[in-house]
Amino acid sequence: MSVAGKTAIVTGASRGIGLAIAERLVADGARVVITARKKEELDAAVVHLGGPEVALAIAGKADDTEHQAETVRRAIERFGSVDLLVNNAGINPSYGPMIELDLGAARKIAEVNCIAALSWLQQAHRSWMREHGGVVVNVASHSAITSEPGVGFYGASKAMLVAITKQLAVELGPDIRVNAVAPAVVKTRFSAALYEGREAQVAEAYPLKRLGEPEDVGSAVAFLLSADASLITGQLLVVDGGVTLSGVSG
Ligand SMILES: NC(=O)c1ccc[n+]([C@@H]2O[C@H](COP(=O)([O-])OP(=O)(O)OC[C@H]3O[C@@H](n4cnc5c(N)ncnc54)[C@H](OP(=O)(O)O)[C@@H]3O)[C@@H](O)[C@H]2O)c1
Repeated sequence: MSVAGKTAIVTGASRGIGLAIAERLVADGARVVITARKKEELDAAVVHLGGPEVALAIAGKADDTEHQAETVRRAIERFGSVDLLVNNAGINPSYGPMIELDLGAARKIAEVNCIAALSWLQQAHRSWMREHGGVVVNVASHSAITSEPGVGFYGASKAMLVAITKQLAVELGPDIRVNAVAPAVVKTRFSAALYEGREAQVAEAYPLKRLGEPEDVGSAVAFLLSADASLITGQLLVVDGGVTLSGVSG
């Protein structure tokens, strides 16, 4: 059983993992409301996804509560429901030892990666899911469960997102399921510095001998959103080619 006929909000979906999730959901028969900051790229994504019958773009910052409220309201107005929520937008604006991390950057990371994810669900819950139920997937990272040089606070924020996922899963059952995915390196603009020019060398550390493609995360998220996962809540699905078990990924 798939997500056919459902409406999904996918944040940060003009490219990369978010766009691959939206693509997979549309292929499985859902309608998607996609967000990102830059309107032009978002509008192009709507065309790519099949046009206004199946996709609606709303530009804004993931951590802007007015943008969140507008997105939920317009999703219901256009497609009639908000059954599925994918908190995919995430940032990592700094690189270096955590001991030297600028605290303004730390607060921004926590705001976008954790608090915004909670806020999106609060808004969707109030406007739709509390009465009708729903399914949520938060895009965390394998950094949540490993120690990675240079991106320590990003990893800490994703660990908090996993904790938020578990707490909400317990609070919101039986009608709302909440899960998370933890990708290792997936080939997108976000992670380009980790593999560009040395992909084969980086992939060598992965038991499956390849880095992730956005579609690998799209299919994992689609599974968790579908009725095939109807007994699964509060879980972290690691989508990493085995690298979390075998060593360093970047
Ligand atoms: N790629 C990886 O290796 C990897 C691994 C583990 C986890 N992840 C997680 O996967 C998620 C997606 O990453 P990605 O690799 O697909 O990145 P990406 O290719 O850079 O895409 C990021 C998307 O999010 C949007 N976005 C960025 N900041 C935003 C903000 N503040 N508000 C709203 N939209 C925002 C971008 O559009 P605009 O720039 O127009 O806003 C774009 O659509 C993130 O949560 C990331 O932490 C990625």
